[in-house]
Amino acid sequence: MLILGIESSCDETGVALVEAAPQGVPRLRGAALHSQVAMHRDYGGVVPELASRDHIRRVLPLTEAAMAQAGVALHAIDAVAYTRGPGLAGALLVGAGVACALAAALGVPAVGVHHLEGHLLSPFLSADPPAFPFVALLVSGGHTQLMRVDGVGRYHLLGETIDDAAGEAFDKSAKVLGLGYPGGPALSRLAEQGDPAAFALPRPLLHSGDLDFSFAGLKTAVLTQARKLGPALEARKADLAAATEAAIVDVLVHKARAALKATGLNRLVVAGGVGANRRLRAQLGEAATRHGWRLHYPEVALCTDNGAMIALAAAMRWQVGAWSAADRAWAFDVLP
Ligand code: KG4
Ligand code: ZN
Repeated sequence: MLILGIESSCDETGVALVEAAPQGVPRLRGAALHSQVAMHRDYGGVVPELASRDHIRRVLPLTEAAMAQAGVALHAIDAVAYTRGPGLAGALLVGAGVACALAAALGVPAVGVHHLEGHLLSPFLSADPPAFPFVALLVSGGHTQLMRVDGVGRYHLLGETIDDAAGEAFDKSAKVLGLGYPGGPALSRLAEQGDPAAFALPRPLLHSGDLDFSFAGLKTAVLTQARKLGPALEARKADLAAATEAAIVDVLVHKARAALKATGLNRLVVAGGVGANRRLRAQLGEAATRHGWRLHYPEVALCTDNGAMIALAAAMRWQVGAWSAADRAWAFDVLP
């Protein structure tokens, strides 16, 4: 089974080809990616209209590149998967339109994949794939969730953010500090030169007793601190960045630990853009050694949005019993 996957939910156009047998971990055959980060940088964030237009420009050349890398012709494809949401509507429509048109022309199924399911399953393409069941910490620009994952399609939400996502907290705090877009990696780089204990920032919901998150108050605390510093901010930026990062990471690690404890599981999958954060990785690594957990991350190239995770999710759904009508119907934001 050869599945083409197209991701276009935000500011990355990704196309990839995955090969799956009825059993075993699917294999990545070819992948091509274009990031729009440089294009959006001048605007300090993603401009949806520009994003959609760029996806249109990129999607077919990237498809050709992924196919060429795999050494496969279009008529050999057995299904076309695309990100059906969540994401920017115009951006999603580009991937969905191209995928459905290709599928119709080739006479093969078009399969809609939930973007977060792609992130969730992406570590299966790594050299050390996880085994079910596991707890997943999904930390992206739009989502912060803890899930118990018992198998493909068997996802139980344990907790999630009640306001901003962790990535959003990074990005908005970075904006307060006058760092560029995307803010998360910039703030994290600056934090390496700062003292995380220099400012006492709140750890929202740390002891709430549930597995939910809240990051909106943290952004306000960073803003208040920055205003208080006034002209002194310039010299204290690295310290404030370090304190912000420490607050976000502390909460993520604390809640991940609580989720593992509550479920009695010892495997943790970390996926989504924030999973690239060095401090998060270091602290989870320490906790894993201390508590005997197994940690799984996607390959670095698959941490941010990409087509491979979309093709992979479609392939793994096929392995557990083909695609349902829901997989093949256009829908937004529904985790099947
Ligand atoms: O998963 P992703 O690529 O896109 C979404 O689906 O949202 O995640 C992007 C988010 C952004 O908020 C970005 O700032 C954050 O991940 N991010 C990081 C780092 N790299 C990416 N946040 C903290 N530290 C990083 N190293
Ligand atoms: Zn994503």
